[in-house]
Amino acid sequence: MENRTIGVALLGLGTVGLGTYKVLKAQREEMVYKIGAQLELRWILVRNKERAAAKVDEPELITDRFEDIINDDKVEIVIELIGGTTSAADYIEAALKAGKHVVTANKDLIASDHGRLMDLAKENGCDLMFEAAVAGAIPVITPLKQSLAANHLSEVMGIVNGTTNYILTRMEQDGMEFGEALALATKLGYAEADPTADVEGLDAARKVAIIASIAFNSRVSVEDVRTEGITKITPDDIRYAQEMGCCIKLIGMAHSDGTSIEAYVAPMLIPKRHPLAAVNDSYNAVFVRGDAVDDAMFQGRGAGELPTASAVVGDVFDVARNIVHGCNARISCTCYRHLPVKKMEDVQSRYFLRVEVEDRIGVLAELADVFARHQVSVDQIIQKQRHIPFHEGTDRHTGDGTDKELPSAQIVVITDVVREGDFQKAVQCIRDKKGTRQICSMIRVYTAE
Ligand code: NAP
Ligand code: HSE
Repeated sequence: MENRTIGVALLGLGTVGLGTYKVLKAQREEMVYKIGAQLELRWILVRNKERAAAKVDEPELITDRFEDIINDDKVEIVIELIGGTTSAADYIEAALKAGKHVVTANKDLIASDHGRLMDLAKENGCDLMFEAAVAGAIPVITPLKQSLAANHLSEVMGIVNGTTNYILTRMEQDGMEFGEALALATKLGYAEADPTADVEGLDAARKVAIIASIAFNSRVSVEDVRTEGITKITPDDIRYAQEMGCCIKLIGMAHSDGTSIEAYVAPMLIPKRHPLAAVNDSYNAVFVRGDAVDDAMFQGRGAGELPTASAVVGDVFDVARNIVHGCNARISCTCYRHLPVKKMEDVQSRYFLRVEVEDRIGVLAELADVFARHQVSVDQIIQKQRHIPFHEGTDRHTGDGTDKELPSAQIVVITDVVREGDFQKAVQCIRDKKGTRQICSMIRVYTAE
């Protein structure tokens, strides 16, 4: 069989774009045996041509005009690696309308516009692939759409943000405060200059929206994913978690009982025996539970030049195989159900609550009473420590300095599996009580069904 040549255009030559360029080069001799075609890189689109030209061996491929690509009939695959939801969306749409297949790593765009773009791809008989958009190098989308298609999945939970996993690992293993660990992550290049999307959980939420939509065959948007980051986690929380045989991980959770979907991102106490507890530093992992497969976990690099390019080029090869065999758009949008996404107050979970209260007789009983009145079943309630406050001799409540302030006690409460709405109301009631000094932390505790 005579091998076909397939023209490819690369949009963007940043971290992942350059990695993709390098991996395509490294595969040049062998790709024909793998895919039955030779890929020919015809264009590289950038904004700053001079800067890009210095990075590649063929500066003549560099352009800053998208028209060069869209008007080139030999370009059959467009690889979008510029990011964002503006130009990237325009270029992907234009490419699909021109019958060009698209591979992208753009989680922002896929999370917000997946359905529309998949439909557009289908209308035009094109492939739209995005393995690299979730957990970088780790195969997640292809396993969910293809290898595990014979399952009803009930849970896909993961550590899908490397920056926050690195920070939590340093806090656990080296006793660092959040700020210190973030500074180290920034210095080592794990955290971006503006780390907000990572540490506040938005990056993970985008990935959860994509994963949940595919796992449960029903559209979940980023707005459906309740998101809580790791900025409030303290070394004390990590120490208490360790005492309970747990570590704290930022978990992206997608869960379904077949009638509705739970999707959220939150720090969670994970028992040390769970496979995700051993995923440290900047590694990502995705844990899947299905009725046929049972439990499976995929682990690896969630970001970086070559790891992310590995997933991008894997998709490009897949598209090329489809071209060779004339079967593109084989797998289009898999969202054929319309399941509601549960409101967060209806989600059930166990909770860890740490609260600082006045140390006086009856305080434990009062807390227990608040929980009982809000239908929150308590598994454990423990008084952890006493300390004498700095301002002895002043009374916090009267402010007149006549009574000595009572010492503080830290109370740790572990609930049974309870409804989040009930738990939040109980916590609000505790917060409003006169003897409450502060709610120190409130963290979900992972419980397998
Ligand atoms: P990056 O380093 O910032 O690179 C972006 C590239 O796109 C630059 O070459 C930039 O060119 C070019 N570009 C930006 N806007 C453009 C426009 N309007 N027209 C032409 N070129 C434009 O980004 P990245 O880290 O490689 O990320 C690329 C995509 O991969 C994003 O969607 C990201 O979410 C996703 N992703 C990244 C990672 C990772 O590890 N970095 C992992 C998974 C997924 P100039 O330099 O000339 O401006
Ligand atoms: N900022 C992401 C992370 C990498 O820290 O995992 C890109 O998805």
